[in-house]
Amino acid sequence: MDHEKTRQMWITFFPAICLLSLVSSAGGVLCPNGCKCENEILKANCSRAGIEVVPIQLNPELHVMDLSVNKITQLHYTFTFYEKLHTLDISRNRVKNIGGGNFKTQKLLKRLNLSSNFINSLGKDTFEGLIQLSELDLSYNQMNLIGQNAFRGLGNLTILKMSGNQLDYFEEGTFKPTPNLQALYIDDNSFIRIPEELSDLSQLKILSLARNLIEIIEDEKVPNLFELQTLVLIQNSLQEIQPRGFANMPKLDHLDLSDNKLTILPTDQLSKLSKLINLKLSGNIFNYLPPVAFRGLFHLKYLMLTRLESLKSIDARAFVDNKNLEKISLDYNYKMTTLPTRLFHGNRKLKYISMRYTSVNFLVATHFPLDQLVELRVGGNPLNCNCSMGWLWKILQDDHVLVNTNTSQVKINELKLDVNDIICETPEELHNLTLVSATQRQMDCSMSWLAIVSVSLTVIFILGIIVGVFLFIPRKKSNNSIDKQVPKIIKTSYNSAPPLPPPRKSLPNHDGNHMERYIMPPVMLQNRSLSTWDPYSQHCNGNGNIYEQLNDHRDRPHIVYV
Ligand SMILES: *[C@@H]1O[C@H](CO)[C@@H](O)[C@H](O)[C@H]1NC(C)=O
Ligand SMILES: *[C@@H]1O[C@H](CO)[C@@H](O)[C@H](O)[C@H]1NC(C)=O
Ligand SMILES: *[C@@H]1O[C@H](CO)[C@@H](O)[C@H](O)[C@H]1NC(C)=O
Ligand SMILES: *[C@@H]1O[C@H](CO)[C@@H](O)[C@H](O)[C@H]1NC(C)=O
Ligand SMILES: *[C@@H]1O[C@H](CO)[C@@H](O)[C@H](O)[C@H]1NC(C)=O
Ligand SMILES: *[C@@H]1O[C@H](CO)[C@@H](O)[C@H](O)[C@H]1NC(C)=O
Repeated sequence: MDHEKTRQMWITFFPAICLLSLVSSAGGVLCPNGCKCENEILKANCSRAGIEVVPIQLNPELHVMDLSVNKITQLHYTFTFYEKLHTLDISRNRVKNIGGGNFKTQKLLKRLNLSSNFINSLGKDTFEGLIQLSELDLSYNQMNLIGQNAFRGLGNLTILKMSGNQLDYFEEGTFKPTPNLQALYIDDNSFIRIPEELSDLSQLKILSLARNLIEIIEDEKVPNLFELQTLVLIQNSLQEIQPRGFANMPKLDHLDLSDNKLTILPTDQLSKLSKLINLKLSGNIFNYLPPVAFRGLFHLKYLMLTRLESLKSIDARAFVDNKNLEKISLDYNYKMTTLPTRLFHGNRKLKYISMRYTSVNFLVATHFPLDQLVELRVGGNPLNCNCSMGWLWKILQDDHVLVNTNTSQVKINELKLDVNDIICETPEELHNLTLVSATQRQMDCSMSWLAIVSVSLTVIFILGIIVGVFLFIPRKKSNNSIDKQVPKIIKTSYNSAPPLPPPRKSLPNHDGNHMERYIMPPVMLQNRSLSTWDPYSQHCNGNGNIYEQLNDHRDRPHIVYV
């Protein structure tokens, strides 16, 4: 250290040196009042010590120095003594200007925390010397400008946090010196687009831009982020994503677009993200999920679609491409009044469904792939708890769901339900009561005399017609008529039972056999086959294509054969 500098420092630190008189001596090493010095592990913790300057009398061998929550205003030449620091925390102080060259001797420093100070800009060479720095936290300062060379020398920087500043652009070349940066957090700033200058960050994996002012993702101006895996754009004002908006991010697996202003689901744009696993679109304003809404997202596992205040309907084929879907949440979609049956039946890995606080008032077993679900949350819906909801009541009664395989009863899974939130709106006698508190009598359709009488009358009526057909129509025609009547008989005999799927020949037996036991009259049950629903299996009368079963549309959209 040259004499010139030493003298300069001496002058700068006269007040600090006066502090020495207040210092207590511990085991030969000085530790200021309010600090905790653990010399065995080379750590000094002066957090909340009320200090105004960086103490210069601490052990020069220190690895960790915590100066957070103090009143330090400037850093000039203060760290020169501590060449061995690995971790330095100066967060929550009053530093306005970091100055230049103050970290020249911190060649070993890996983590520097300068968050929650009053830093208003970064000049050139601010961080000169920090060749090993890997994590830099500059969050919650007042920076509106970052000089072009501010990050010079930070070749090993991997994490940079600058959330909570007033940044709206980066100078060209700002990130040239930091090619190894992997995570950049610039939430709570004033960016109006994803900054193009990020193209220099060829290793960037995480980019967080929550609560900025982004309205549009434009084709031409999106940086190349070929390694990006996580992109967070929560609470911007995003209205438009141009067709190639996500084309430069082929490795993205986590995308959060929650709380923006998207009026149309960006199906095409998202379809470029073939690696996507986690997609969050809550709090946007689309009113409809079209068929194959998430086209090409074969790896998608987690889908958040809550608080969609305009969402009224979901097409029955909305999720058909998402073969790996495991978890979906549709909570707080107040305008949603119905759910297509079999909406999820192509999603054979689905284990978790949540649709709390919607306006759906009636649920049937066919809505959900019950044989594979682990958790189903349907609380807060204004349910009409007539006896058709007996299947759900029965599950709520039991601790676990049993499935009837040919002879033995096997416990398949314990379905978790938000039991106490499943409350009835109607009928009057159950209003505001939990479904689980309903009685057997209230939930048993077959117990109703009215139902039995009406079923009997209907059966007699139809038998009458059949007999009539036999008696009065020539033999050849009569055969055909019988064939046509068969489905009708089955259907009518269920008259007052819950809406079972129509017994179409090509449809898989999807609703889980265990469920059938609860909702079918016992006599009918014995005659039913008990094969498990499996849209791909060969049992489905040779017609294993789920798409063709879900509607009459003949093309088979987007099946990838891997
Ligand atoms: C310093 O002490 C505070 C509590 O006084 C604690 O919260 C903080 O984690 C400590 N810092 C380090 C680096 O251990
Ligand atoms: C920096 O300090 C702040 C406040 O003391 C803390 O919340 C933050 O997690 C720290 N940053 C890092 C990277 O440790
Ligand atoms: C990163 O740190 C290593 C020491 O661990 C150093 O040798 C190297 O020069 C640094 N890289 C850059 C680009 O600064
Ligand atoms: C129960 O209510 C739903 C509509 O809320 C209706 O579709 C169904 O037929 C009702 N079931 C019975 C047995 O009345
Ligand atoms: C009955 O179950 C056993 C195993 O539990 C199985 O091996 C057998 O094939 C099943 N029979 C039928 C007819 O499904
Ligand atoms: C419904 O029950 C809740 C408590 O469980 C009660 O606070 C509320 O006033 C009840 N509402 C009506 C209309 O009875």
